[in-house]
Amino acid sequence: MSKLKAALIGGGNIADKNHIPALKQLADLVEIVAVCSRDGIKAGALAQKHGIPHAFTDSVAMYEQCKPDMVVISTPNNLHYPYTIQALEQGCHVLCEKPPAIHAHEAREMADLATRNGLVLAYNLQLRQTSEWDLLMRSKADGQLGDIYHIKASFLRRRGIPGWGYFTDKAIQGGGALMDLGVHVLDLALCALDYAVPTQVLGNTYDFIGKTGGKGLMGSWNPQTFGVEDACMAYLAFPNNASIMLSSSFALNTQADINRNLEVFGSRGGATLFPFTLYTEVAGELANVHFPYLDNVDIQLKNTAAFLDACLGKPSNVCTGEQGAILQEVVEQIYKSASGFT
Ligand SMILES: NC(=O)c1ccc[n+]([C@@H]2O[C@H](COP(=O)([O-])OP(=O)(O)OC[C@H]3O[C@@H](n4cnc5c(N)ncnc54)[C@H](O)[C@@H]3O)[C@@H](O)[C@H]2O)c1
Repeated sequence: MSKLKAALIGGGNIADKNHIPALKQLADLVEIVAVCSRDGIKAGALAQKHGIPHAFTDSVAMYEQCKPDMVVISTPNNLHYPYTIQALEQGCHVLCEKPPAIHAHEAREMADLATRNGLVLAYNLQLRQTSEWDLLMRSKADGQLGDIYHIKASFLRRRGIPGWGYFTDKAIQGGGALMDLGVHVLDLALCALDYAVPTQVLGNTYDFIGKTGGKGLMGSWNPQTFGVEDACMAYLAFPNNASIMLSSSFALNTQADINRNLEVFGSRGGATLFPFTLYTEVAGELANVHFPYLDNVDIQLKNTAAFLDACLGKPSNVCTGEQGAILQEVVEQIYKSASGFT
């Protein structure tokens, strides 16, 4: 079987540190043929660093010359949609960074086009590849949890407003803590509920700390240009009476510098994701079950491998285009609720 030819659009941090190393480790299945990015000098330097044969600033020229089979989209958020549509129109499978897009209708269009063209569209929501998540899914399948009826999903930073890049620019990012961090744990929570669509969505967003300024634990940000939410809280209700409470923050007056977790409550048992613990009953006694020997895996490598599996028609747990469209719709509903539209 011939190798898939891969190209990357967007040659920044995540391309350099995550996607390219993962693709290189999967060299028996895939070869990187090109990187395309806005800055030609940086694209050339990235290509040289990783031994990639071609660097482009023009994606049309890249498709013409290199004819990739798959494309990784690792640009800023506002470019996920146009570059994914272009790649799907060029007949390529797409692994797109999160969040899927800026608007729900864009993510829907992306998913529909992938389906129409018989191509794989997937999102890089790589927490799905942790051993803890795998164990949660197996515990659920085993019946250890019974029916899951409530999930608390959190991705909180105490003072983690990035002091670099465009994270606080709404036009480029589409939003703040929810778009950047919340989507990771929202994806897991929705997965635990089999990607049901909520019937009610209530959200609040805040920007007190972002607009005031203060001590940064991830660089210092400019409160004058801070244009996104520093925290977003939401409550989602589902037709079967299940619910999700979602909390995400770049900045919040809370104890831990970072708190990224899921608490899952089921009719037979409950679980915390990190560190993975089951809350259950054993022989009529309440019991906490710990798992000290879980593997520490390379979640990017596993997610890229899961994407390639999907491209090769094998079973895969990667976040699909369809799921991404639901995820983006929920994100949009949260923002609409927070701004007073329902
Ligand atoms: N899955 C994760 O855990 C994770 C982690 C970090 C970032 N991300 C996502 O990855 C994406 C990129 O983030 P990053 O940290 O690598 O940012 P970055 O700024 O380091 O890289 C973005 C790259 O896109 C390029 N670019 C900008 N405009 C372009 C254009 N018009 N055409 C082609 N290239 C263009 C830039 O030159 C840069 O190389 C974002 O969507 C972000 O949300 C995901």
